[in-house]
Amino acid sequence: MPMIDFNHVWNTIPFPAFIINSEFKIIEGNSSAEQIIHTSRKQMFGKELGVFFGINSVVLETVKQVRQQNSSLSQYGVEISTIDRVSFECNLHINPLDKNNEKYLLIIQPNSFAQKINQSSTQRTTARSVTAMASMLAHEIRNPLAGISGAAQLLAMNANDDDVELADMIGQETKRIGTLVDRFEVFSDIRPALRDAYNIHDVLDRAIRSSSAGFASTIKFTKQYDPSLPDASGDADQMLQVFQNILKNACEAIQKDRGKIVICTSYNSGVRYTISGNQSEILPLQIEIIDNGKGIPGNIIDEIFEPFVSSKVNGTGLGLAFVSKIVTSHGGLIECTTDHPGTKFTLRLPIWKKSAEDRI
Ligand SMILES: Nc1ncnc2c1ncn2[C@@H]1O[C@H](COP(=O)(O)OP(=O)(O)OP(=O)(O)O)[C@@H](O)[C@H]1O
Ligand SMILES: [Mg+2]
Repeated sequence: MPMIDFNHVWNTIPFPAFIINSEFKIIEGNSSAEQIIHTSRKQMFGKELGVFFGINSVVLETVKQVRQQNSSLSQYGVEISTIDRVSFECNLHINPLDKNNEKYLLIIQPNSFAQKINQSSTQRTTARSVTAMASMLAHEIRNPLAGISGAAQLLAMNANDDDVELADMIGQETKRIGTLVDRFEVFSDIRPALRDAYNIHDVLDRAIRSSSAGFASTIKFTKQYDPSLPDASGDADQMLQVFQNILKNACEAIQKDRGKIVICTSYNSGVRYTISGNQSEILPLQIEIIDNGKGIPGNIIDEIFEPFVSSKVNGTGLGLAFVSKIVTSHGGLIECTTDHPGTKFTLRLPIWKKSAEDRI
């Protein structure tokens, strides 16, 4: 096996990465780390994290939590600032590096760099701009559309055969626009999702069954479920539509006779999403949907959760915008990684709690 220059690997990691000791002092930093805190490796050595990110910083707090629990933690959507008072939103990933609880790896993933991960923050902004347009469209298109379709029916009554055909065509096309408006109207509903207990495996099974009865009839599904998962919190019907959309996309990307979709569920206690200030939600339910399709085209990968982004001739580009909207309204996260072959969507969702103690 060829020798790997780990020093080189360490410095080519495109995100700031630090190794911290049990006293929260920096003992290593890569090139990106030097840039983010404007300090050379030599100078950062032995200094406390708080010197660079502030003593009350969420960075320090999160490393402290990892030390206490001695287990990995990923915190999404946190706002941090460096000593030069530049603040930015990022994801923190912290892993203990040894059993003795003495060294930790801290990776800071600024959101602007997070090209492969479409964070809920962008999804929330998208959701807001789409919301206004959706309610406008629903009102402004539905009424004239009803008029057009009514007029076409009246015309058809006294028309000859050729014209009846044309009037029918108007009827069919107005119906198609109506369906599109219905699909789009979902975005005008800005209420948070209903929070009921539901079993994620039941919902996944329903999505597989309904897909297999239609567009996924030739696809081989593999289920790798963790049977001990607790109930999820949210609206099972909406989540069913989420999975149906993801499965439909997967099927459209794979070769029908060789199509495989793997669905894995697991419990990952080390994932949190910061809602605002120091309020965060734990998102331990992890659902991965992996296909062996042609992958997402590179030119749209950063925008797939935006509405009207599609690589398909007849695609509306509303499927994943809907998915993102629903997952966000459940307080969850969705991420996507893609390659050729294969695409993986990872959803992280909250569990159901009897009281309103979902948030900590
Ligand atoms: N599993 C996947 N494999 C490959 N490409 C995908 C996958 N999922 C999504 N995509 C890409 O993301 C784009 C956006 O998906 P989205 O579901 O939002 O719209 P669409 O499928 O094109 O249209 P619609 O869902 O409205 O029929 C797709 O056009 C496709 O290029
Ligand atoms: Mg789709």
